[in-house]
Amino acid sequence: MSEHILIAIAWPYASAKIHAGNVTGSHLPGDICARYHRLNGDRVLMVSGSDSHGTPITVRAEQEGKSPKEVFERFHRSFLEMFLRLGISYDLFTHTDTENHHRVSQDFFLALLEKDYLYSEVQEQMYSEAQGRFLPDRYVEGTCPVCGYEGARGDQCDKCNTLLDPKDLIDPRSKTDGSTPVIRETEHFFLDLPKLAEVGLSQWLDEGKEHWRPNVIAFSRNYVNEGLQGRPITRDLDWGIPVPVAGWEGKCLYVWFEAVIGYFSASVEWARNQSQPEGWKDWWYDPAAQTKYFIGKDNIPFHTVIWPAELMGVARLYEDDPAKRLNLPYDVPANEFMNLEGRKISGSRNWAVWMDDALDRYDPDPLRYYLTVAMPETRDTDWLWGDFVSRNNDELVATWGNLVNRALTFAYKRFNGQVPTPGPLADVDTLLLEKVEAGFAPIGELIAGCQFRAALREVMALAREANRYLEEKGPWFQIKEDVQAAGTSIYVALKAIDSLKVLFAPFLPFSSERLHGYLGYEGKLFGRQYTDTFTEEGSRVHEALCYDPDGATGAWRPSELAAGQALRPPDPLFKKLDESVVEEELARIEAAPSA
Ligand code: MF3
Ligand code: ZN
Repeated sequence: MSEHILIAIAWPYASAKIHAGNVTGSHLPGDICARYHRLNGDRVLMVSGSDSHGTPITVRAEQEGKSPKEVFERFHRSFLEMFLRLGISYDLFTHTDTENHHRVSQDFFLALLEKDYLYSEVQEQMYSEAQGRFLPDRYVEGTCPVCGYEGARGDQCDKCNTLLDPKDLIDPRSKTDGSTPVIRETEHFFLDLPKLAEVGLSQWLDEGKEHWRPNVIAFSRNYVNEGLQGRPITRDLDWGIPVPVAGWEGKCLYVWFEAVIGYFSASVEWARNQSQPEGWKDWWYDPAAQTKYFIGKDNIPFHTVIWPAELMGVARLYEDDPAKRLNLPYDVPANEFMNLEGRKISGSRNWAVWMDDALDRYDPDPLRYYLTVAMPETRDTDWLWGDFVSRNNDELVATWGNLVNRALTFAYKRFNGQVPTPGPLADVDTLLLEKVEAGFAPIGELIAGCQFRAALREVMALAREANRYLEEKGPWFQIKEDVQAAGTSIYVALKAIDSLKVLFAPFLPFSSERLHGYLGYEGKLFGRQYTDTFTEEGSRVHEALCYDPDGATGAWRPSELAAGQALRPPDPLFKKLDESVVEEELARIEAAPSA
């Protein structure tokens, strides 16, 4: 049965380049899941965009002496290009400074206000007398009141992930000049989390979460059970989305309040771009639709508590039917972090594998392969260059690539460029085909359940079986005595390869698509990714990444390859990497100047 699946991926701040840790944390798992569901015939909507507001952008702009707009647009463009090269197949990757997102966010705010889930209160806020302004949360640092970590930020402690208010910090100091900020009064709107907890949020977190990762559900329940307080959702800022209430000029919606709304607003934008303005409702109002949020562990409370609270409080938007409710997250498979060679990735110290840079030297599929086998699903992991090279050489090239290359070149040369006609299949033949065929259901379930490492391991194990089969049969010897027997072996191998191509496709879309062509097929496994430019009512222009299914259809099923099908001239799918790569790459990170 075809389902509606929303793949929602955390919106990266457009203030720094995207590194391997970001990709393996959210963009890649989301993409693997999306590609699987598309192959499975489900209707997928995969959205995200550049987070263009918030302190990371304004800090960077101040450092560079540029406007926030210039800064986020530059990074946004680099994101589009990188995702295109890595095959992160967003149906829409937009940003938060569009007309559409501003309006939708303000509508969310007004709906919550009308339903009495917002209240305003005079609040005490950190103020820098030296700079004559209120300090954004992230501009204040101090000691975490929960775990005692001395470098906690005003919005959140990086050590224990607790969301903080800067006033909670012990010994607060201004991040920019180290001075001690003073407390001043200012009026702000608050999201009434205690009230929302009572009207259903707590209950929702307590029910039907068996498929959630244990750490995600434990963290979220704990967060709620410790007692929720109202959270301020406006700020004294000029870069952001204006508070849509008279008398509140000069104040903006807090970045975290509006960025999560991006999942919804991007769906609305996508539907409008498709000229089906109501099209987003299939994902947001159909209770059978599944919405899956791919994020890093530092984002958990925003996606399991704050965003569900906003959705629950709004209840419904742009929909007249009073029975309808906006869908709450179906799953939030948050990942842990990826380190680099045993040290925490640090953008500012340039201790990172920058994805655009890596794509200059390596093909996308080997990078995707390694980022999947080392995905931090249950614990922190490490990017190790030595491991990258050996996984590429020993697994991708030696097992899968070698299998494909041997079978295809042999068939192409010795069987007239066609899939040979087999003789009667023996037990060894059907056994292999049955094994591969039996992989589709469990591997599909593993992917749908966001167990990507386990899924890929299963696919690789099947490729190993097929390799063993070919090795044992040895059609290059068989052909000297018995052409028919060699033909049977190659037929069986090609059929197994044709199935494995599909099983590998969510992980390795580029090589699977090439292989699909070598096997002689006309259509494509996947649609087409491209960038496009959109002009909005206010004549603001923005660039986005798009995906066109382009007639690609559900192919998540065992091979139906027929004898006699004409093959195309094959080329190796993967390249062996020289061991020297390890030294070169280590030297590169050690030597890189701080960005
Ligand atoms: N920009 C935030 C970050 O990079 C993530 C925002 S996710 C969203 O940590 F849900 F708010 F969109
Ligand atoms: Zn802490």
